Amino acid sequence: MSIHKAARKITTHVLQAMKAKNEKIAMLTAYDYSIAKLVDQAGVDVILVGDSAANVMAGYDTTLPLTLDEIIYHAKSVVRAVEKALVVVDLPFGTYQGNSKHALDSAIRIMKETGAHAVKLEGGKEVEESVVRILSAGIPVMGHLGLMPQSIHKFGTYVVRAKDDEEADQLRKDAVLLEKLGCFALVLEKIPAKLAEEVAKSIKIPVIGIGAGGGVDGQVLVIHDMLGLTQEFSPRFLRRYHDLATEIKGAVSNYVKDVRSEDFPNEKEQY
Ligand code: KIV
Repeated sequence: MSIHKAARKITTHVLQAMKAKNEKIAMLTAYDYSIAKLVDQAGVDVILVGDSAANVMAGYDTTLPLTLDEIIYHAKSVVRAVEKALVVVDLPFGTYQGNSKHALDSAIRIMKETGAHAVKLEGGKEVEESVVRILSAGIPVMGHLGLMPQSIHKFGTYVVRAKDDEEADQLRKDAVLLEKLGCFALVLEKIPAKLAEEVAKSIKIPVIGIGAGGGVDGQVLVIHDMLGLTQEFSPRFLRRYHDLATEIKGAVSNYVKDVRSEDFPNEKEQY
Protein backbone atom coordinates (compact mmCIF):
# COMPACT_ATOMS: atom_id res chain seq x y z
CA MET A 1 0.00 0.00 0.00
CA SER A 2 1.24 3.52 -0.71
CA ILE A 3 2.44 5.62 2.23
CA HIS A 4 -0.29 8.20 1.49
CA LYS A 5 -3.02 5.53 1.67
CA ALA A 6 -1.62 3.91 4.82
CA ALA A 7 -1.35 7.21 6.71
CA ARG A 8 -4.37 8.38 8.71
CA LYS A 9 -3.05 11.93 8.62
CA ILE A 10 -0.25 13.42 6.55
CA THR A 11 2.51 14.73 8.81
CA THR A 12 5.93 16.17 8.06
CA HIS A 13 7.34 12.70 8.85
CA VAL A 14 4.99 11.04 6.37
CA LEU A 15 6.24 13.42 3.67
CA GLN A 16 9.84 12.57 4.49
CA ALA A 17 9.00 8.85 4.35
CA MET A 18 7.36 9.45 0.95
CA LYS A 19 10.57 11.00 -0.34
CA ALA A 20 12.63 8.13 1.06
CA LYS A 21 10.36 5.63 -0.74
CA ASN A 22 10.29 7.68 -3.93
CA GLU A 23 6.55 8.32 -3.65
CA LYS A 24 5.68 11.65 -5.25
CA ILE A 25 3.97 14.32 -3.14
CA ALA A 26 0.90 16.15 -4.47
CA MET A 27 0.36 19.67 -3.12
CA LEU A 28 -2.25 22.26 -4.12
CA THR A 29 -3.34 25.61 -2.77
CA ALA A 30 -6.74 26.25 -1.21
CA TYR A 31 -8.11 29.34 0.50
CA ASP A 32 -11.65 28.46 1.56
CA TYR A 33 -13.68 25.72 3.26
CA SER A 34 -15.58 24.31 0.26
CA ILE A 35 -12.60 23.90 -2.07
CA ALA A 36 -10.30 22.66 0.73
CA LYS A 37 -12.82 19.91 1.53
CA LEU A 38 -12.81 18.68 -2.08
CA VAL A 39 -9.04 18.94 -2.41
CA ASP A 40 -8.55 16.94 0.80
CA GLN A 41 -11.11 14.31 -0.21
CA ALA A 42 -9.42 13.94 -3.62
CA GLY A 43 -6.23 12.79 -1.91
CA VAL A 44 -3.84 15.74 -1.98
CA ASP A 45 -1.00 15.35 0.55
CA VAL A 46 -0.35 19.01 1.34
CA ILE A 47 -2.72 21.96 1.16
CA LEU A 48 -0.97 25.30 0.97
CA VAL A 49 -2.86 28.37 2.11
CA GLY A 50 -0.66 30.41 -0.17
CA ASP A 51 -0.20 34.14 -0.24
CA SER A 52 -1.25 33.71 -3.89
CA ALA A 53 -4.61 34.41 -2.21
CA ALA A 54 -3.58 38.03 -2.78
CA ASN A 55 -3.81 37.42 -6.55
CA VAL A 56 -6.55 34.86 -7.04
CA MET A 57 -8.86 35.73 -4.14
CA ALA A 58 -8.30 39.46 -3.68
CA GLY A 59 -7.26 40.56 -7.19
CA TYR A 60 -3.98 42.27 -6.30
CA ASP A 61 -1.15 42.37 -8.89
CA THR A 62 1.39 41.00 -6.41
CA THR A 63 1.36 38.99 -3.18
CA LEU A 64 2.74 41.90 -1.16
CA PRO A 65 -0.46 43.52 0.13
CA LEU A 66 -1.82 40.37 1.85
CA THR A 67 -1.90 40.80 5.63
CA LEU A 68 -1.43 38.35 8.47
CA ASP A 69 -5.08 38.79 9.49
CA GLU A 70 -6.18 37.99 5.95
CA ILE A 71 -4.13 34.78 5.61
CA ILE A 72 -5.34 33.72 9.07
CA TYR A 73 -8.94 34.12 7.91
CA HIS A 74 -8.26 31.91 4.85
CA ALA A 75 -6.30 29.35 6.89
CA LYS A 76 -9.05 28.99 9.51
CA SER A 77 -11.57 28.24 6.76
CA VAL A 78 -9.27 25.63 5.21
CA VAL A 79 -8.38 23.91 8.49
CA ARG A 80 -12.09 23.48 9.33
CA ALA A 81 -12.49 21.44 6.13
CA VAL A 82 -9.40 19.24 6.18
CA GLU A 83 -9.25 15.75 7.68
CA LYS A 84 -6.12 14.22 6.21
CA ALA A 85 -3.83 16.63 4.38
CA LEU A 86 -1.03 18.61 6.01
CA VAL A 87 -2.02 22.30 6.03
CA VAL A 88 0.83 24.76 5.43
CA VAL A 89 0.28 28.52 5.65
CA ASP A 90 2.37 31.20 3.95
CA LEU A 91 3.84 33.91 6.15
CA PRO A 92 2.85 37.08 4.27
CA PHE A 93 5.34 39.72 3.14
CA GLY A 94 6.50 41.88 6.03
CA THR A 95 5.63 39.39 8.77
CA TYR A 96 9.00 37.62 9.09
CA GLN A 97 11.79 39.46 7.23
CA GLY A 98 14.44 41.36 9.17
CA ASN A 99 13.20 40.67 12.68
CA SER A 100 13.15 37.13 14.00
CA LYS A 101 11.05 38.03 17.08
CA HIS A 102 8.40 39.45 14.76
CA ALA A 103 8.69 36.30 12.62
CA LEU A 104 8.10 34.07 15.63
CA ASP A 105 5.10 36.17 16.74
CA SER A 106 3.60 35.90 13.24
CA ALA A 107 4.14 32.13 13.06
CA ILE A 108 2.68 31.64 16.55
CA ARG A 109 -0.43 33.64 15.59
CA ILE A 110 -0.90 31.41 12.54
CA MET A 111 -0.50 28.17 14.52
CA LYS A 112 -2.63 29.29 17.48
CA GLU A 113 -5.47 30.98 15.63
CA THR A 114 -5.83 28.63 12.65
CA GLY A 115 -4.89 25.13 13.81
CA ALA A 116 -2.64 24.72 10.74
CA HIS A 117 0.34 22.37 10.87
CA ALA A 118 3.24 24.39 9.45
CA VAL A 119 4.30 27.71 7.94
CA LYS A 120 6.14 28.53 4.72
CA LEU A 121 8.45 31.45 4.08
CA GLU A 122 10.55 32.70 1.17
CA GLY A 123 14.33 33.04 1.20
CA GLY A 124 17.57 31.39 2.33
CA LYS A 125 20.50 32.94 4.19
CA GLU A 126 18.72 36.30 4.52
CA VAL A 127 15.93 34.75 6.65
CA GLU A 128 18.13 32.33 8.61
CA GLU A 129 17.47 33.93 12.00
CA SER A 130 13.72 33.93 11.47
CA VAL A 131 13.77 30.25 10.43
CA VAL A 132 15.81 29.27 13.49
CA ARG A 133 13.57 31.20 15.88
CA ILE A 134 10.32 29.81 14.44
CA LEU A 135 11.72 26.27 14.53
CA SER A 136 12.81 26.77 18.14
CA ALA A 137 9.14 27.11 19.08
CA GLY A 138 8.40 23.69 17.56
CA ILE A 139 6.73 25.11 14.47
CA PRO A 140 7.55 23.20 11.26
CA VAL A 141 8.90 25.43 8.49
CA MET A 142 8.76 24.86 4.73
CA GLY A 143 11.30 26.88 2.73
CA HIS A 144 10.75 28.50 -0.67
CA LEU A 145 13.56 29.34 -3.12
CA GLY A 146 13.91 30.23 -6.80
CA LEU A 147 11.24 32.64 -7.96
CA MET A 148 10.06 34.28 -4.75
CA PRO A 149 6.99 36.38 -5.56
CA GLN A 150 7.39 38.48 -2.40
CA SER A 151 10.66 39.81 -3.93
CA ILE A 152 9.11 40.69 -7.29
CA HIS A 153 10.20 44.34 -7.04
CA LYS A 154 13.80 43.19 -6.57
CA PHE A 155 13.66 40.73 -9.49
CA GLY A 156 11.60 43.05 -11.72
CA THR A 157 9.91 40.16 -13.61
CA TYR A 158 8.46 36.68 -13.07
CA VAL A 159 10.96 35.01 -15.47
CA VAL A 160 12.82 31.75 -14.71
CA ARG A 161 15.35 32.19 -11.87
CA ALA A 162 18.81 30.71 -11.24
CA LYS A 163 19.76 30.39 -14.90
CA ASP A 164 23.20 31.88 -14.32
CA ASP A 165 25.92 30.15 -12.32
CA GLU A 166 26.05 32.67 -9.49
CA GLU A 167 22.32 32.52 -8.71
CA ALA A 168 22.25 28.72 -9.15
CA ASP A 169 25.14 28.38 -6.73
CA GLN A 170 23.46 30.58 -4.14
CA LEU A 171 20.28 28.51 -4.48
CA ARG A 172 22.21 25.26 -3.92
CA LYS A 173 23.77 26.75 -0.78
CA ASP A 174 20.45 28.08 0.50
CA ALA A 175 18.76 24.69 0.00
CA VAL A 176 21.47 22.94 2.03
CA LEU A 177 21.27 25.65 4.69
CA LEU A 178 17.47 25.35 5.02
CA GLU A 179 17.78 21.58 5.44
CA LYS A 180 20.55 22.03 8.02
CA LEU A 181 18.47 24.55 9.99
CA GLY A 182 15.66 21.99 10.21
CA CYS A 183 13.10 22.90 7.54
CA PHE A 184 10.94 19.85 6.79
CA ALA A 185 10.48 20.56 3.06
CA LEU A 186 11.35 23.04 0.36
CA VAL A 187 9.44 24.61 -2.53
CA LEU A 188 11.46 25.43 -5.66
CA GLU A 189 9.65 27.81 -8.00
CA LYS A 190 10.40 28.39 -11.68
CA ILE A 191 14.01 27.26 -11.99
CA PRO A 192 15.70 25.00 -14.59
CA ALA A 193 14.60 21.37 -14.21
CA LYS A 194 18.21 20.12 -14.14
CA LEU A 195 19.11 22.34 -11.22
CA ALA A 196 15.93 21.43 -9.33
CA GLU A 197 16.64 17.72 -9.75
CA GLU A 198 20.22 18.19 -8.58
CA VAL A 199 19.03 20.06 -5.46
CA ALA A 200 16.36 17.43 -4.71
CA LYS A 201 19.00 14.70 -4.90
CA SER A 202 21.44 16.61 -2.72
CA ILE A 203 19.15 16.97 0.33
CA LYS A 204 17.02 14.54 2.33
CA ILE A 205 13.98 16.76 2.86
CA PRO A 206 11.24 16.68 0.19
CA VAL A 207 11.54 19.24 -2.61
CA ILE A 208 8.23 20.32 -4.11
CA GLY A 209 8.42 22.02 -7.48
CA ILE A 210 6.33 24.54 -9.36
CA GLY A 211 7.78 25.12 -12.81
CA ALA A 212 10.84 23.12 -11.70
CA GLY A 213 10.42 19.96 -13.78
CA GLY A 214 9.73 16.34 -12.89
CA GLY A 215 12.98 15.43 -11.14
CA VAL A 216 11.85 16.71 -7.74
CA ASP A 217 9.88 14.95 -5.00
CA GLY A 218 6.47 16.47 -5.62
CA GLN A 219 4.51 19.17 -7.41
CA VAL A 220 2.42 22.15 -6.36
CA LEU A 221 0.03 24.31 -8.38
CA VAL A 222 -2.33 27.14 -7.56
CA ILE A 223 -5.80 25.60 -7.64
CA HIS A 224 -7.38 28.49 -9.57
CA ASP A 225 -4.77 28.02 -12.32
CA MET A 226 -5.04 24.23 -12.66
CA LEU A 227 -8.86 24.37 -12.69
CA GLY A 228 -8.84 27.03 -15.41
CA LEU A 229 -10.43 29.77 -13.34
CA THR A 230 -7.60 32.21 -14.05
CA GLN A 231 -7.66 32.62 -17.82
CA GLU A 232 -5.09 35.36 -18.20
CA PHE A 233 -2.27 33.38 -16.46
CA SER A 234 -0.69 30.87 -18.80
CA PRO A 235 2.95 30.00 -18.02
CA ARG A 236 4.57 27.03 -19.76
CA PHE A 237 4.65 24.94 -16.57
CA LEU A 238 0.92 25.13 -15.98
CA ARG A 239 -1.25 22.13 -16.89
CA ARG A 240 -4.94 22.99 -16.87
CA TYR A 241 -7.12 20.11 -15.71
CA HIS A 242 -10.38 21.89 -16.37
CA ASP A 243 -11.91 24.97 -17.96
CA LEU A 244 -13.95 26.15 -15.00
CA ALA A 245 -14.10 29.74 -16.24
CA THR A 246 -16.08 28.68 -19.31
CA GLU A 247 -18.25 26.29 -17.25
CA ILE A 248 -19.08 28.94 -14.67
CA LYS A 249 -19.82 31.63 -17.23
CA GLY A 250 -22.07 29.17 -19.10
CA ALA A 251 -23.98 28.19 -15.97
CA VAL A 252 -24.40 31.81 -14.84
CA SER A 253 -25.60 33.01 -18.24
CA ASN A 254 -28.15 30.16 -18.30
CA TYR A 255 -29.37 31.28 -14.87
CA VAL A 256 -29.67 34.90 -16.04
CA LYS A 257 -31.61 33.73 -19.13
CA ASP A 258 -33.97 31.60 -16.99
CA VAL A 259 -34.63 34.44 -14.53
CA ARG A 260 -35.36 36.94 -17.31
CA SER A 261 -37.64 34.52 -19.18
CA GLU A 262 -39.40 33.57 -15.91
CA ASP A 263 -38.49 29.92 -16.49
CA PHE A 264 -36.89 29.92 -13.01
CA PRO A 265 -38.35 29.13 -10.54
CA ASN A 266 -40.85 26.62 -11.92
CA GLU A 267 -43.80 24.98 -10.10
CA LYS A 268 -41.56 22.39 -8.41
CA GLU A 269 -39.05 24.99 -7.23
CA GLN A 270 -41.41 26.88 -4.94
CA TYR A 271 -43.49 26.30 -1.80
O1 KIV B 1 1.45 31.29 -2.62
C1 KIV B 1 1.53 30.27 -3.33
O2 KIV B 1 0.56 29.82 -3.93
C2 KIV B 1 2.82 29.60 -3.42
C3 KIV B 1 2.95 28.50 -4.41
C4 KIV B 1 3.09 29.06 -5.77
C5 KIV B 1 4.05 27.58 -4.09
O3 KIV B 1 3.74 29.96 -2.75
